Amino acid sequence: MRTQLLAAGAAAVACVANGASISEASQPRHLFSRQSLSNATTSNTTLPTSPPFYPSPWMDGSGDWGDAYEKAKAFVSQLTLVEKVNLTTGVGWESEACVGNTGSIPRLGFQSLCMQDSPLGIRFSDYNSAFPAGGTVAASWDRQVWYDRGYAMGAEHNGKGVDVQLGPVVGPLGRAPAGGRGWEGFSPDPFLSGQAVAQTVQGMQKAGIIACTKHYILNEQEHFRQAGESAGFGFNITESLSSNIDDKTLHELYLWPFADAVRAGTGSVMCSYNQINNSYGCQNSHLMNGILKGELGFQGFVMSDWAAQHAGVATTLAGLDMTMPGDTAFDSGVAYWGGNLTLSVINGTVPEWRLDDMVTRIMAAYYYVGRDAPGNVKPVNFNSWSRDEYGYQHAIAKAGYGKINERVDVRRHHAKIIRDHAVRSTVLLKNVDGALPLSGKEKMTAVFGDDAGDNTAGPNGCSDHGCDNGTLAMGWGSGTASFPYLISPLTAIQNEIAKVEGRVEWVTNGWDLTSAQALAAQAEVAITFVNADSGEGFISVDGNIGDRNNLTLWKNGDALIRNVSAVCNNTIVVVHSVGPVILDDYAKNPNITAIVWAGLPGEQTGNAIADILYGRVNPGGKLPFTIGASREDYGADVMYEPNNDADAPQDQFSEGIFIDYRAFDRKNIQPTYEFGFGLSYTTFEYSHIQVAAHTVPAYTPNEGMTAPAMQYGNSSINIEDWQYPADFAPINYYIYPWINGSDAKTASGDANYGTEGSFPAGSQDGSAQPKVRAGGAPGGNPRLYDVVYTIVALVKNTGSIPGDEVAQLYVNLGGLQDAPKILRGFDRITIAPGATVQFTVQLCRRDVMNWNTAIQDWEITADPKKVYVGGSSRNLPLSADLPSLSYA
Ligand SMILES: *[C@@H]1O[C@H](CO)[C@@H](O)[C@H](O)[C@H]1NC(C)=O
Ligand SMILES: *[C@@H]1O[C@H](CO)[C@@H](O)[C@H](O)[C@H]1NC(C)=O
Ligand SMILES: *[C@@H]1O[C@H](CO)[C@@H](O)[C@H](O)[C@H]1NC(C)=O
Ligand SMILES: *[C@@H]1O[C@H](CO)[C@@H](O)[C@H](O)[C@H]1NC(C)=O
Ligand SMILES: *[C@@H]1O[C@H](CO)[C@@H](O)[C@H](O)[C@H]1NC(C)=O
Ligand SMILES: *[C@@H]1O[C@H](CO)[C@@H](O)[C@H](O)[C@H]1NC(C)=O
Ligand SMILES: *[C@@H]1O[C@H](CO)[C@@H](O)[C@H](O)[C@H]1NC(C)=O
Ligand SMILES: *[C@@H]1O[C@H](CO)[C@@H](O)[C@H](O)[C@H]1NC(C)=O
Ligand SMILES: *[C@@H]1O[C@H](CO)[C@@H](O)[C@H](O)[C@H]1NC(C)=O
Repeated sequence: MRTQLLAAGAAAVACVANGASISEASQPRHLFSRQSLSNATTSNTTLPTSPPFYPSPWMDGSGDWGDAYEKAKAFVSQLTLVEKVNLTTGVGWESEACVGNTGSIPRLGFQSLCMQDSPLGIRFSDYNSAFPAGGTVAASWDRQVWYDRGYAMGAEHNGKGVDVQLGPVVGPLGRAPAGGRGWEGFSPDPFLSGQAVAQTVQGMQKAGIIACTKHYILNEQEHFRQAGESAGFGFNITESLSSNIDDKTLHELYLWPFADAVRAGTGSVMCSYNQINNSYGCQNSHLMNGILKGELGFQGFVMSDWAAQHAGVATTLAGLDMTMPGDTAFDSGVAYWGGNLTLSVINGTVPEWRLDDMVTRIMAAYYYVGRDAPGNVKPVNFNSWSRDEYGYQHAIAKAGYGKINERVDVRRHHAKIIRDHAVRSTVLLKNVDGALPLSGKEKMTAVFGDDAGDNTAGPNGCSDHGCDNGTLAMGWGSGTASFPYLISPLTAIQNEIAKVEGRVEWVTNGWDLTSAQALAAQAEVAITFVNADSGEGFISVDGNIGDRNNLTLWKNGDALIRNVSAVCNNTIVVVHSVGPVILDDYAKNPNITAIVWAGLPGEQTGNAIADILYGRVNPGGKLPFTIGASREDYGADVMYEPNNDADAPQDQFSEGIFIDYRAFDRKNIQPTYEFGFGLSYTTFEYSHIQVAAHTVPAYTPNEGMTAPAMQYGNSSINIEDWQYPADFAPINYYIYPWINGSDAKTASGDANYGTEGSFPAGSQDGSAQPKVRAGGAPGGNPRLYDVVYTIVALVKNTGSIPGDEVAQLYVNLGGLQDAPKILRGFDRITIAPGATVQFTVQLCRRDVMNWNTAIQDWEITADPKKVYVGGSSRNLPLSADLPSLSYA
């Protein structure tokens, strides 16, 4: 076929919310200094600190937020002080139907905002779908999959009356493979994660709900994320773990996908449980004020993780906009905000413009996603705390008995796309002599492993999926959803074999090796299902406190594979896992003819794996992480023991940007299966790389001054004006915005009321402020997203069947501190047998930049830069130099 290199109209991969950059790990660490509003932690003077950034930037309607901003201003201008406070503060854990609800504004008929888990579907609900996990669909490398999945999940939440879906996840990024919640996010590569989060956010919000990108930031492990939770597991710590990081690693690795999410318009961002350089995620002015709202130009609102708020005024001034679930601790009945926020405005510690900005951001997100469109907002029609049709509206108070669950079926056609997405995300790792696909005519098929079958307790039999019984199709914790059904691999394989009246038998008990061997010896093909699970740190499964204790298989999976493959020379291994597992022996074992990684595929897991095994679909997924031969090969690991006496554990991110494939490449370690690897039932060939540099405007820093803060009201500071209404009957445990009594200190219930002394310099200053140099619009300086290079190459399908290839482009930024290569472009392309297609990547300026800590901005260094193109991070047959740019 005829191909035109660099032809106009070629299917270019758009430069949407793109990018990544690399860094030198030699920069001084401890760049941020500790904030001293509360001096909460220790007197250990060697601890890293986080610098102050005040005042909290007010939204300005930049990017495409102008209309939403105008509508929000008009709305907020009508509100009283307590009505504003109501929109910022949750009503308390288990007080309303959702996992989090704000107060309402009855005077205007404005209902409470409903926040609901999770990033893969609706938690605590029914008649909803269970989608593949984020870390699984990352393996599709397919922007359409991400968008469609986001839209479908958003539509389901919308159908239940949810305003904010608590997802997607790009923190954890996936620093350590054993980190418990990596599977909720996408990939330890920031570019891949950034592309996935941008599409997911846009899909979700197109469905008319607000996305909540989380957890900001460096929430990379479960151990020690919360002191109280850790105490429950026998650890004596008084404060959450501190992730200690340098500025360059922050920008070039962990912040990168958050920038993409902001650029894609995420309406909210959730701040995290952990500390960052010894300042809590929800109280860190450098990260919320300085970087998220300043540098990244975030226009939406920052919501706390559940009980991640540890102070009142300090969090308000540091940039938190909404507290969830609203009470200081679950069901404490008291709040850092609510009445306390009302008090802090009338006593002058929180300027009213700051409260106005909080509410304007919340309402702007509401308008930005079109929640005000006619018919879009529905009353919440389910209740998180019960699947019964009748029960208490206010569960914790046992109040408001009535119909709480309308049992609305919101699934539409989603089963179909869930199966398709799971198939597209399946990665074929090994396939000797066409072992796969199976014909379905095998004389005798044997199936092994607990992971093949059903959980005897049912698909939702373990609370928050906190067990590993039966096939693994999602991890555990809050990032889950109820299964409407769960088609196990064994069910699907039986359906397949029954169609042709063949023979299939199984041993699902992974410890019954004698029976397994006896059966395997008779089999023409032995399909062995194995898994490895992890989840959120409030649940421990088999001694794994969220984070995995090891990278080996669960449920006796390794012994099972060894025993089956010892007697069957056509053993096929299927892995359902939350992330990398050790497979090195199986890669080398000649009796193991195929290995498939299927991730956490959701409700259609069995049907999806059958589509791949029986060749109805040619696999095209690629690994979104590295599968190494040992956990020591990865650049970083989970901290399992606290290291700072009883004080906040100090987790030094001293590996810098060198995680996952960057670590393997730097040390030249051979992985078992590299990042970006995946086979097809056909083969591909790469040729003819060409690079074109574009003439672009020079990069110009964002300069000048902002407008002053806007204030949309001038509320009375008379405490008598904000008392509970005389005829009001409060619900137990419920958080309200009113004040109880005319003595402020007594009303606050806070022995330390009024004793905080001075506040950080500038924190109450609403005057025009200098703009942040690397900022300017949502996502940062718009010049970062100029397309500076177009790179094309040809990809040929050299086999005899159609197939999908994920073509990949990596950049070497040329500096001594840079990684050998970093992903900067990819496209999943369907190619007919014998056909050649053009792979096109448009590199943004940011894609070839490094973060310069001295000037606090991105720059293109003078180092010579190269690009590489091929089918995985270690199969890059094409390369070219990047010419230097000329500026218009
Ligand atoms: C925090 O510590 C600094 C330095 O020791 C001290 O000057 C400041 O008064 C302390 N702040 C509070 C609120 O205790
Ligand atoms: C201070 O913290 C560092 C980092 O965790 C630790 O190595 C050191 O022992 C601590 N010093 C004291 C006096 O606690
Ligand atoms: C605040 O929200 C609560 C719960 O929805 C509601 O009962 C109360 O009336 C609201 N207060 C105001 C001032 O609107
Ligand atoms: C106000 O906040 C303090 C903590 O700062 C808390 O102890 C107190 O209970 C809160 N008061 C109310 C009424 O929620
Ligand atoms: C189910 O899971 C629990 C918790 O992981 C475990 O203790 C139990 O043995 C499992 N049951 C079966 C039948 O596998
Ligand atoms: C790894 O952890 C899993 C789950 O707890 C356990 O079943 C397995 O035995 C562990 N592997 C090793 C080698 O200890
Ligand atoms: C397995 O062994 C049988 C019997 O020796 C042989 O016929 C068959 O070709 C072998 N299959 C593979 C995949 O090696
Ligand atoms: C926790 O550790 C601190 C400091 O080592 C010690 O003083 C305290 O007694 C310990 N508490 C418990 C409950 O072990
Ligand atoms: C103002 O009110 C807040 C919330 O109750 C309280 O934390 C703070 O100490 C008060 N400050 C003054 C100066 O009264």
